Formats: sequence, C-alpha cells, structure tokens
Amino acid sequence: MPNTLDHSYVQKSSWKPNLFAGKVVFITGGAGSICRVQAEALVLLGANAAIIGRNVEKTEAAAKEIASLRPGAKVIGIGAVDVRKIQSLKEAVDKTVQELGRIDYVIAGAAGNFLSDFNHLSSNAFKSVIDIDLLGSFNTIKVTFDQLRKNKGSVIFVSATLHYYGVPMQTHVGAAKAGVDALCNALAVELGPLGIRLNCIAPGAIAGTEGMSRLAPPGGEPLEKKIPLQRQGTTTDIADATVYLFSPAASYVTGDVLVVDGGMWQVGGLMGDFYPNIIIHQNEDPEGKL
Ligand code: HXC
Repeated sequence: MPNTLDHSYVQKSSWKPNLFAGKVVFITGGAGSICRVQAEALVLLGANAAIIGRNVEKTEAAAKEIASLRPGAKVIGIGAVDVRKIQSLKEAVDKTVQELGRIDYVIAGAAGNFLSDFNHLSSNAFKSVIDIDLLGSFNTIKVTFDQLRKNKGSVIFVSATLHYYGVPMQTHVGAAKAGVDALCNALAVELGPLGIRLNCIAPGAIAGTEGMSRLAPPGGEPLEKKIPLQRQGTTTDIADATVYLFSPAASYVTGDVLVVDGGMWQVGGLMGDFYPNIIIHQNEDPEGKL
C-alpha cells in the first residue's frame, strides 16, 4: 500500500479546508498509487469524486476508503472501464453526473508501463501503451468536454519526464507521454477561450508507487543520491501539485507542465549504473519480438 493521506493533511498542508467544496473530480486510474492520493487530497479539501478503473473490486474498494476520509464525502468507484474504449468512459461520465451532479475537474491518470528494450518490444506492446496513455487521455477529455465547458473546468494529465532525454527500456512510454504533453499544449490553446485550463504534472521517482516498483533500476547506488533534493518524492508531493493546479491560485496557468521530481531529470534521471550493459545483454538475444 503506498503512502495514503489522512485527516492530518488538512491541518498540515498549506491549503484551506473547504477549498473544493461543491466541486466534483473525475479521475481515470483513480485507484492507482499516484492518482488515488490526488483523489484523497481533493476529497479531504471538500470535493466529491468519481474513481474510474479497469479492476472492479480495486476501484470500488478505493472509492469506499477515500469516502471515509471526510464525513459527508461522496466518492463513487466505477470499474470495468478501459480508457481505450470511449463508450465505456462515456457511460462512466453519465453515471458521475447522475450521481454527483457535475464534473469540474478531470485527472487523466490511467497509464500502462513495463520495462522493455526495443528488441523485445512488439508492435502490439508499443500500441497498447500509446493507446492507454495517449488515446486514453484524449478520450477522457472528449467525454468530459461538455461538463468542462459548462463548469469552466480544469484538467490535469499525469505525464512523465522520460521524453526530455533518451531513456532506454522506455521507448513506448516516452513516446506516449510526449504525445500527452502535445495534447495538453494544443488543447490549452483551443479550450482556453472557453474557460478551460489544462496542465500536466510530471512526477519523478515517487516512493511506494506501482511505477517505481516496475521501473526502479536494479542495483547500483541508492536512487536518493542521484536526486538533487536528496530524497525520493512522496505521493503527498503530487497531491500538493494537484491541489495547486486546480485551485484559484493557478487560475492564470494553462498549457504548463509542473515537474515534481526533486530535480532528477536534470541530472539524467533513472539512467543508472545498469546502462549500457543491460542493453547490450538484451540485444544478444536472437529471439526479438515483432
Ligand atoms: C514486453 C510486454 C510486457 C513486458 C506486456 N507486454 N508486458 N512486452 N515486456 N514486460 C506486451 C504483451 O506481450 C502484449 O504484446 C502487449 O504488451 C499487450 O499486453 P496485454 O497484457 O495484452 O495488454 P493489456 O491488458 O492491455 O495491458 C496493458 C499493459 C500492462 C500496459 C501491457 O502492463 C498493464 O495493464 N499495466 C497495468 C497498469 C500499469 O502499468 N501501471 C503502471 C503505471 S506507472 P504481444 O505482442 O505479446 O501481443 C507509469 C509510470 C510512468 O505509467 C512513468 C513514470 C516515471
């Protein structure tokens, strides 16, 4: 279980307790380790939420637990939704509006990732990640657009820093997240005149998350030593960035990428001692994939 929030967040954070009272957030990937904590912060600060995911049990359980953080909070979990399929997303939006009344904020957080070198990355594997991360983000805005327009809403895409430089074993995710940043830029320009703001958060190494358990480089020096701020990030760091971007304090901020990584990408990020040996090793395998 990653670091989750409790009521002490409201006392310790820099934010006003009822900052998001009356607002509703729609979150894809909302039961995952990062997006769940984004949801918790918003709910603790007064919002109601719809948590969208593929796994029914995990999504419904997360919604129940998040709802218990604030008396009176309404949090619904909608499982069996794949962001690659726009119709199921549309039904989730309809259900959210029916049960919670509106959507003000959207977090496009559903993502897929695994480590694979190019030789073993099939065309279908590449497409799966592009479809979840990029097409899924597009679909999410498509189905919430009417609500965003009506409520002059705001969007956060969960991006990454992997495409700022060349990260081996992450061709698929780097390409997908570069697309997400481009989607954000273009939509910020196109939807700004309608009063809709869209930004990205690019998390770095966030401790206790699924991403880190999948991606942390094997062996070598402790990761903290390679991060300028000398620690791994926390899910609270991402929650705080989320609250800022949705709050009135960011009302003049759109089309931006807020990197929350302790400065890690500036010094070569996840590129560990394993490079280039792991790549040479993977390419000795004659059984690559198409
Ligand atoms: C090589 C792999 C693979 C691996 C899957 N594939 N895992 N190839 N190495 N480790 C290939 C499969 O063989 C298949 O290709 C293709 O990917 C699709 O796989 P499926 O399992 O059929 O697809 P699907 O069920 O859609 O799964 C999607 C997935 C999976 C992305 C592949 O990993 C997934 O669902 N992950 C769960 C969510 C997740 O990853 N969360 C982490 C988010 S962290 P073939 O050719 O065999 O058909 C994150 C951090 C971002 O995103 C960066 C932060 C720094």
